[in-house]
Amino acid sequence: MRLLVCGGAGFIGSTFARLRLNDHGDDVTVLDKLTYAGREENFHDLSGDERFHFRRGAIEDGEAVAAAIEAASPEAIVNFAAETHVDRSIAEPDAFVRTHALGTYVLLEAAREHGLRYLQVSTDEVYGSIDVGTFTEESPLRPSSPYSATKTGADLLVESYFHTYGLTTLICRGSNNYGPYQYPEKLIPLMILNALHGDPLPVYGDGMQVRNWIHSTDFAGAIGHVLEHGVPGEVYNAGGPDEEANIDVVRRIIELSGASESQIEHITDRPGHDRRYSLSSEKVRALGWAPRVRFDEGLADTVAWYRENSWWWEPVRSGDYRSYYERQYGRSLR
Ligand SMILES: NC(=O)c1ccc[n+]([C@@H]2O[C@H](COP(=O)([O-])OP(=O)(O)OC[C@H]3O[C@@H](n4cnc5c(N)ncnc54)[C@H](O)[C@@H]3O)[C@@H](O)[C@H]2O)c1
Repeated sequence: MRLLVCGGAGFIGSTFARLRLNDHGDDVTVLDKLTYAGREENFHDLSGDERFHFRRGAIEDGEAVAAAIEAASPEAIVNFAAETHVDRSIAEPDAFVRTHALGTYVLLEAAREHGLRYLQVSTDEVYGSIDVGTFTEESPLRPSSPYSATKTGADLLVESYFHTYGLTTLICRGSNNYGPYQYPEKLIPLMILNALHGDPLPVYGDGMQVRNWIHSTDFAGAIGHVLEHGVPGEVYNAGGPDEEANIDVVRRIIELSGASESQIEHITDRPGHDRRYSLSSEKVRALGWAPRVRFDEGLADTVAWYRENSWWWEPVRSGDYRSYYERQYGRSLR
């Protein structure tokens, strides 16, 4: 397939681009605005491949999208482009509304004009928090942060293009991802890098928030599977094989990195913090997908990757991320 991968310079989008080029022989054009989270380093190993192209541009910019489609002549658009950090959505929600609402609209219009298959990458956070049981695709949408509310709005707009215009749309909702190339504001890379540097490990509240962890290669695989085999107009959940409380994740990172439990620092909980996410993936499993990476093994590999790839995170830790961290946690990094 020829794919236009929007947001492909980010964590999961670049993992998806790598998987589709290396394992499926696709042509991949990445369109990405390169926000603080989008980095060319994320596809450093793909740039020499003649089937891979990168264009810098925003999905809300109709001209940039039209030019990318003209150059790439894609059969499908896969949209990863998003603002993705809940804490930033609480502090500054405007970019979330622009990218998720306006950006998704511009891409849907382009898909409609050119008759392209359209896959929206979405999140379990659209369902809100669940104390017991798991969310299915039929569960009500009850987002609780500006991040998840704007992602929900984007999903509903995508569904409307299927119902109203007959556009071939698909939505794939993932649970919390982890793996190489994840920007260090997110729980797992934040804790790994702080552990390796001897910095405090800031844990929100009691740390008993439960997440349904999925390795990024598994989520990328699920998205490709839904793109190829999904039924137009349908939503597919892709959840990881394991659920873990944040505090247990932090304790395992401490063991794996040789840090100390005394580095744990409980801080005031995030406003409106969802307590537990859990996804049923029966529908995508029925299409023939299953996650392969168990959390224990994937976390050990991820800690090893960060340990061995300081070239990737050193520029981040010494750049704007330092001032973000100071604003968010009220202290500086070492
Ligand atoms: N990380 C997770 O745990 C997780 C879980 C489920 C779903 N998702 C979804 O997967 C997608 C990718 O998440 P990620 O963790 O890789 O995020 P990320 O923050 O690492 O990457 C997002 C990418 O989108 C780009 N981008 C942002 N706004 C843009 C715009 N207006 N135009 C063009 N590009 C823009 C950024 O430059 C960056 O490259 C998102 O849609 C997210 O909602 C993420």
